[in-house]
Formats: sequence, C-alpha cells, structure tokens
Amino acid sequence: MYFTTALLLAGLPSALAVTYNVTVGANGRNAFDPEYVAAEAGDVVNFIFNPKNHTVTQSAFDPPCVRLDGGLASGFQPVTPETNPLPTFQVNVTGKTPLWFYCGQTGHCGQGMVFSINPPEDPSPNSFKAHKDLAIARNGTGPASVSPSSVGVYTTPPAPHWVTATATVTGASSTWTTTYTSYDGTPPPTPAAQPQDHKIIVGPDGQFVFSPARVEAAIGDTVTFEFRQKNHTVTQSSFMQPCRPLRDTSLTGEVGFTSGFQPVAADATTFPTFQIKVNDTAPIWGYCEQVNHCGAGMVFAINSVESGSNSLAAFQGLAQRINGTGATGPGSGSGSGSGSNNGAIKGGFSARVGAGAGMALALALALGTWFALL
Ligand SMILES: *[C@@H]1O[C@H](CO)[C@@H](O)[C@H](O)[C@H]1NC(C)=O
Ligand SMILES: *[C@@H]1O[C@H](CO)[C@@H](O)[C@H](O)[C@H]1NC(C)=O
Ligand SMILES: *[C@@H]1O[C@H](CO)[C@@H](O)[C@H](O)[C@H]1NC(C)=O
Ligand SMILES: *[C@@H]1O[C@H](CO)[C@@H](O)[C@H](O)[C@H]1NC(C)=O
Ligand SMILES: *[C@@H]1O[C@H](CO)[C@@H](O)[C@H](O)[C@H]1NC(C)=O
Ligand SMILES: *[C@@H]1O[C@H](CO)[C@@H](O)[C@H](O)[C@H]1NC(C)=O
Ligand SMILES: *[C@@H]1O[C@H](CO)[C@@H](O)[C@H](O)[C@H]1NC(C)=O
Repeated sequence: MYFTTALLLAGLPSALAVTYNVTVGANGRNAFDPEYVAAEAGDVVNFIFNPKNHTVTQSAFDPPCVRLDGGLASGFQPVTPETNPLPTFQVNVTGKTPLWFYCGQTGHCGQGMVFSINPPEDPSPNSFKAHKDLAIARNGTGPASVSPSSVGVYTTPPAPHWVTATATVTGASSTWTTTYTSYDGTPPPTPAAQPQDHKIIVGPDGQFVFSPARVEAAIGDTVTFEFRQKNHTVTQSSFMQPCRPLRDTSLTGEVGFTSGFQPVAADATTFPTFQIKVNDTAPIWGYCEQVNHCGAGMVFAINSVESGSNSLAAFQGLAQRINGTGATGPGSGSGSGSGSNNGAIKGGFSARVGAGAGMALALALALGTWFALL
C-alpha cells in the first residue's frame, strides 16, 4: 500500500499505477503466483514471501537461474508459518522491457520457479514458457528431467570410430581420387553420376522436425532445406554435441554451415531455402538453433549409418537428453529414412588406421578433399 500511495503522490506520468501482488511459494509450492505480469512504467510488483526460504533474484533470459550483474535481489527470506506480516519485496517497473527473476534457493529454479515482467508472448522464442523450460533444462535434475518414455533407457553411444581413407573411383566417365572420413557403413566415395538434389522441409505444419530427418546423398549431390512457418535454422553440429554449432566444438577450426534464422510469416506462400553440397561421405549432423527446438528433437542427418550405434535415432536421443526440457519431444522416433541403404558398402572403403585416429583427425579431414582428375 505504501508504494502505491507513494507513487500516486509522486504524480507519475501513467494515469493510475497498479500494484501487482505476486506470492512467492504460496501453499508450500516452489512457484510464483502469478508466474508473470504485463505491467506499465510506474507499476509496482509486490512479491509476498510465504513460508520456507525463498528469494527474488533477477536474471537474464539466458542464462536463467543465474544472478544478473547488478540485478535486483531480495536476499533469502526465511518465513515460518507464524511469521506475520509476511515479508515483501518490490520491483518498480520502468518500461516494457522484459525482466526475468528466479528463486535462488537450492533446486527451486530448476523446478521452474521463475517469474517475468513483460515477457514476449508465445510463440516468441523468448516467451515465459521458453524461459521456464530453459531453467528446467539447465538447472533441473539432469537426464531425469527428460521423460524416460521419450528416449527409453539411455546410454550415451560411443563416439564414432572414424577412419580416413583414400580411394580412386570411377564414376560415369570420370575418375576421382577421394580423401575422406568414414566409419564402417558409410557409403562409398562415389560421385553421383547425375548429381541429385534432396529436399528437406524444415518445420512442416508447425512441428519441430526436419522432414525427412535423414537422407542419403552421394558426393556431388545437393541437399536443399525449405523453411516453413516459424523461425528456424539449419546448423551443422557434430554427433557428440548435437545442439551446438560445429564451429564451437570443432577442435580443428571447422566452421560448418548455418543458414541463420529464417523467419517465415504465418501466411507465407513462398518459402526460403538453403542449400548445401555434399563433398564427403562422412555423416553430416545438424539441428535447428531456435531456443528449445533441438532439445525437442529437431535434428537431421545426412548419410548417418543406421546399422550402428551412431544412428539418427541415437543422435536425436542425445539431443533430447542434453537439451531436452522434459517435455516429450515431438520426434522421439527416428526420422523417415530413405530406406535405400546400399548395403554394398559396409566397411568397403574404410581403412582402419587405428583407434588413435580419433575425432580430431577425422574432423580435420571431414572437409573432404576430393579431386576430379578428368
Ligand atoms: C497486496 O499485498 C499487500 C501486502 O503486501 C496487501 O496489503 C494488499 O491488500 C494486497 N493487495 C491486493 C489487491 O490483494
Ligand atoms: C543454475 O546452473 C548454473 C550453471 O550450472 C549455476 O551457475 C547456477 O548457480 C544455477 N542456479 C541455481 C539457482 O541453482
Ligand atoms: C535460507 O537459505 C539459505 C540458502 O540455502 C541459507 O543459507 C539460510 O541459512 C537459510 N535460512 C534459514 C533461516 O533457514
Ligand atoms: C521503488 O520506488 C519507491 C518509490 O519511489 C522507492 O522508495 C523504492 O526504493 C524503489 N525501489 C527500487 C528497488 O528501486
Ligand atoms: C544445448 O545444451 C548445451 C549444453 O548445455 C548448450 O551449450 C547449447 O547451447 C544448447 N543448445 C541449444 C540449441 O539450446
Ligand atoms: C528469430 O529468432 C531469433 C533467435 O531467437 C531472433 O533473434 C529473431 O529476432 C527472430 N526473428 C523474428 C523475425 O522473429
Ligand atoms: C562443399 O564444398 C563447397 C566448396 O568448397 C563448400 O562451399 C561447401 O560448404 C561444402 N559443403 C559442406 C557440406 O561442407
């Protein structure tokens, strides 16, 4: 009341300042109620601490659950059932900029105890729900926060056993010498006699999927991604780090491709595309960078080896496990493979150069140098 009065006496520009009461941990729940408010400059958010020992601490949208430098913080407010009156903490709203808060008590933020003033509305990537999901994903209790039914009993698959090889192959009227990375089961480094284009739809019907999620492509083929409504990306990653750009995880300076964000209006009838050329037989892994999409299973693979432990389903499971929010992702199954598994190649062009070859070397060579001799 004090603040409302003070604000009114101060004659703030807005007609009538509003005080929003927000309970902190009411009824023993680790939650703010309401979870967000839409407020104007001059309004006040009055947090009322209920029994237990919570805080109101300001964070950024990302990272959640981490105090923003110079941000507001109530400190711990231990409250017993006998405490009267309940302690309060006020935040003066100065504009429409979204503000993010959380409870700093151990475990609470990871349970989704976050609050926002003026969050963008769904389906914005910075919506309240996106923030809460992020808090649960980052500070929740880990793999358990992913619904077991979506990934089954999960063990991290081993890193692919990469090898390098050089082969001279003849396709159509050309002879090609190929240095490439591979592991058992990848296709032979045969250039396409007639290069083909493979089309992948990004986010059809508002779903967080690539369709198909897996294609097989020969050297020289292209893959064209067509972006549907929402705001997706096509970004190359690596098997072990499904939801991080290759440029951030490569030990060898590989940059990988990214389309950047491609916002597509709800009423769009033409769709932007992004095309890559396949230069190598090594599997190509990728995902959508939009907040929470990858953790929902929005990943794809080109030339993944479905017979081994590094299948598309394993890749997708890893993405959901590392970046999932606990919501059952739309795509817990494997993508629609092409089925044309040209079985001729298992091990055919792999030259084992020893387990020590490892990922680094493989990635270095994944650029796939290939030369047309004729
Ligand atoms: C808001 O909470 C304060 C106590 O902090 C109380 O005095 C006031 O009546 C409450 N306002 C409403 C509208 O519930
Ligand atoms: C959330 O996780 C981050 C990163 O691990 C950590 O720095 C932070 O302290 C955690 N926040 C809370 C409230 O536990
Ligand atoms: C409130 O929680 C903080 C952090 O966990 C702790 O340091 C403090 O002792 C607690 N206060 C009471 C009275 O339990
Ligand atoms: C909010 O505004 C009131 C009244 O002007 C002031 O007394 C209080 O210190 C302000 N609180 C913060 C956190 O700035
Ligand atoms: C997935 O999680 C990792 C590790 O927490 C993080 O570095 C990465 O940015 C996340 N990716 C996405 C797309 O959120
Ligand atoms: C697309 O998403 C990115 C990342 O979340 C965001 O920065 C950008 O503003 C969005 N674009 C549109 C038009 O919504
Ligand atoms: C294939 O090579 C071309 C030309 O060097 C390059 O622009 C493209 O990014 C490469 N494709 C992939 C998937 O790395």
